[in-house]
Amino acid sequence: MSVKELLYHVEQVEFVYPDGTPALRGVSFEVWRGDRVAILGVNGSGKSSLLRLLNGLLEPTGGVVRFSGTPLTERNLNDPAFGRGFRQRVGFVFQDADAQLFNPTVWDEVAFAPRQMGLPEEEVRTRVADTLNLLGITHLAERAPFRLSGGEKRKVAIACVLSMNPEVLLMDEPIAGLDPRMQFWLVNTLKLLHEAGKTLLIATHNLHLLPDIADRVLILSEDHRLLADLSVEQALEDEQTLVDAGLLHEHLHAHGSTVHSHLHPHEHHH
Ligand SMILES: Nc1ncnc2c1ncn2[C@@H]1O[C@H](COP(=O)(O)OP(=O)(O)OP(=O)(O)O)[C@@H](O)[C@H]1O
Ligand SMILES: [Mg+2]
Repeated sequence: MSVKELLYHVEQVEFVYPDGTPALRGVSFEVWRGDRVAILGVNGSGKSSLLRLLNGLLEPTGGVVRFSGTPLTERNLNDPAFGRGFRQRVGFVFQDADAQLFNPTVWDEVAFAPRQMGLPEEEVRTRVADTLNLLGITHLAERAPFRLSGGEKRKVAIACVLSMNPEVLLMDEPIAGLDPRMQFWLVNTLKLLHEAGKTLLIATHNLHLLPDIADRVLILSEDHRLLADLSVEQALEDEQTLVDAGLLHEHLHAHGSTVHSHLHPHEHHH
């Protein structure tokens, strides 16, 4: 029998930005190795802030985020043994690819993490070539990341995290801005990563793709609290919680002479 490892233990986490803006209040949950968790919530509810805390880019202003038992504090992250191990185990795709891409070429960008990990250059070359090929962006290898289209940048950002092959993937709205073919590819790739035992935490607004990308959902409320921690099936049936979170809204429809209301996910166009 395999014993599940508790990867993240988030306890009563508060986060307030230096300018006084609150982003998270009293958030607690656990993530076990191999979990697939979606993070839902309206704009400004705190999804990106939560992922930055899980990645150690931000430190809680209250409570504690533990990874494999160790609190993610600046001090621990600066400890060479822990910090290096943590950075190799956890990969992050930003919501804003511009905040992530800084190398002169796409090739260097995707090679950055494997080089940081000290892999031999030959292996780095193979990994980068394979990853670019997998994403169908080999033709972009010599281009400057900052001059790419939005969707191209997102593909490069995804390539960067795949090339480092981390055990935990934190992805901030990875599907947004991709064309339907790339969305399909990404959803399928996330499934394969899950089957390979990776732990996935994905912020998304896409309720339709939820069953394909997650088993569990964390729902943040507009006032930055954890409203629910449910299985995907439970969440999709729990209309009241989705309405409370602002993720479903009531619409009045006119069908001929009769008017009635329906609940709709916000991404529906009608
Ligand atoms: N650097 C910052 N300084 C001050 N406040 C910030 C900063 N970044 C985010 N915030 C605020 O923190 C709150 C949570 O923001 P966050 O980006 O985590 O939301 P989100 O759920 O990811 O939203 P979205 O769906 O728009 O991406 C918001 O009120 C936001 O305005
Ligand atoms: Mg966000």
